[in-house]
Amino acid sequence: MKKTYTISEAAELIGKTPETLRRWDKTNKLNAIREPISNYRVYHKEQLEIFPEFSENQKSKQRSNKEIPVKDFSAIELFAGAGGLALGMEKAGIKCKVLNEIDKWACQTLRKNRPEWNVLEGDIKNFDFNKYHNEIDIVTGGFPCQAFSYAGKKLGLDDARGTLFYEFARVVNEVKPKICIGENVRGLLNHDKGKTLEGMISILDEIGYKVVSPVQVLKAINYKVPQKRERLILVGVRKDINIEYKYPAPDDKIYNLEDALKVGDLFDTDVPASAGAKYPDHKKEVLKLVPPKGYWRDLPLDIQKKYMQKSFYLGGGKTGMARRIGWDEPSLTLTCSPAQKQTERCHPDETRPFTVREYARIQTFPDDWEIVGSMSQQYKQIGNAVPVNLGKEIGYSVVKFLNDYYEKYNC
Ligand SMILES: C[S@@+](CC[C@H](N)C(=O)[O-])C[C@H]1O[C@@H](n2cnc3c(N)ncnc32)[C@H](O)[C@@H]1O
Repeated sequence: MKKTYTISEAAELIGKTPETLRRWDKTNKLNAIREPISNYRVYHKEQLEIFPEFSENQKSKQRSNKEIPVKDFSAIELFAGAGGLALGMEKAGIKCKVLNEIDKWACQTLRKNRPEWNVLEGDIKNFDFNKYHNEIDIVTGGFPCQAFSYAGKKLGLDDARGTLFYEFARVVNEVKPKICIGENVRGLLNHDKGKTLEGMISILDEIGYKVVSPVQVLKAINYKVPQKRERLILVGVRKDINIEYKYPAPDDKIYNLEDALKVGDLFDTDVPASAGAKYPDHKKEVLKLVPPKGYWRDLPLDIQKKYMQKSFYLGGGKTGMARRIGWDEPSLTLTCSPAQKQTERCHPDETRPFTVREYARIQTFPDDWEIVGSMSQQYKQIGNAVPVNLGKEIGYSVVKFLNDYYEKYNC
């Protein structure tokens, strides 16, 4: 949530005119402060919270992308992992007909939680999806990204052979869903100066899909996720369908670590106890000295040098190193292992990484979504996932598209 508001924003939120606020400023009834960079007059959120209209208006400003499906929509989820995207889609009302995943532990997670899901275990390249031709509304998949050579030519499907994007596109081509969604890291935007993404767009074009432009990177914090994670979302619409797809609208409310781990808007209870990794003693001694929201620069200089070693002299912020998260901020992006040196995210009060269930909460998995495998397998599956709430909001955007489709084409 925003921390400061301009005079006109504040006026709207508390139901007064800007003139009234200026008068109150002059008569010291409610003083605005100067924002140091812009020098605009602004109000702190706390100053406005004394007005009941403020919190009412804040609540109604939360946008909802919710759409009720007009019929049962079906999906195939590729590279399904522990099911973050599949569960999010399900929450939006889309049924997963088939899921594919190579990792045996992730497959067990999927089967444990949804025995009714048809989980195809194994390398995607060994599965033929032709039997689902024209039977499925949407194909989704977070294909791990491998480069392929673009070299300035218009790429065809065969040029990407051997990559997992090829497999994604092959399945889309076999199934011919109305819409397909590829999910990836932000880095794909600029990979090989944007040519890899351009190549993917041209391949989807060749197989009959127009990619929604510009391709957007969604920030999970804008979609009810207490984590600063970003995901590139590539949407292709089958070319015979003349309906606009719109990315889900971002929400104004930003959730933080407290919302993730304690009872509140996101969860009905505090986070349950669970297993969790520990820091080795030498790391614990160092992290003990870092305050909430702090990182390596908050350490005494001699300890900074000793802890960072060569990195100390290399420049750059390295804000993920020796980082302790604060209760009143979203978590930084979770990775596949919770105690890596570049990406430490220490608990705010205790000097330890987040437990498995805390990890799952930060990714907005419900507490009853069991993750199968050793502790490190569990962290990996959770760290790899699309946050469930982000998946749900993407799901609503697809439901809106499909509702429009079935209305327009009357089928
Ligand atoms: C980024 S994760 C997907 C996360 C998932 N969408 C979620 O929300 O939980 C990518 C997944 O692709 C799987 N994968 C990698 N290579 C594969 C292959 N050749 N065939 C099938 N799955 C594969 C990995 O095991 C991993 O679980």
